[in-house]
Amino acid sequence: MLNPKIETALNNQITKEEFSSRLYLSMAIWCEVNGYPGAADFLYKHSDEERMHLMKMIHYVNNRRGFAHLFAIEEPQSEYASLLDVFTQVLKHEESITEYINDIYGLTVEERDYSTGNFLQWFITEQIEEESLISTILNKIKLVGNDKAGMFHIDKELSEMSIKNTGVE
Ligand code: FEO
Repeated sequence: MLNPKIETALNNQITKEEFSSRLYLSMAIWCEVNGYPGAADFLYKHSDEERMHLMKMIHYVNNRRGFAHLFAIEEPQSEYASLLDVFTQVLKHEESITEYINDIYGLTVEERDYSTGNFLQWFITEQIEEESLISTILNKIKLVGNDKAGMFHIDKELSEMSIKNTGVE
């Protein structure tokens, strides 16, 4: 039986993962209508990955004889100033998700729920990978600044990244 405190923390996280999925979907839409089809591909795929994260948590809660809940989620931002703005916000968002995951992990130690701690290891590794990938992309965007050819190249690279990563968790 899942510890009720852990169950609540995981249910809150399920909502955060669901919000992440919608946030990246909203960013993908902005990129698609603003001439960044590669970034759009990348973010559509990232949105799918976030859905996979929340599904993983839902199944875990239910399999531990808890009850996964979906709470109301706020509307994601739909307008962005630039591609730099989009990826700056992606990184900021992922950093906040990392903190939430770490907080839940801390709670599992306090509550001696080692099974959930073990389950969360996958998310901890995933957060390291995501933050590293996004900060690499962000640095490239910063480097090209307003150079249109450079931006075109980055967009193409993002499209290739989304193809390469298809099917990989
Ligand atoms: Fe579900 Fe991007 O963390």
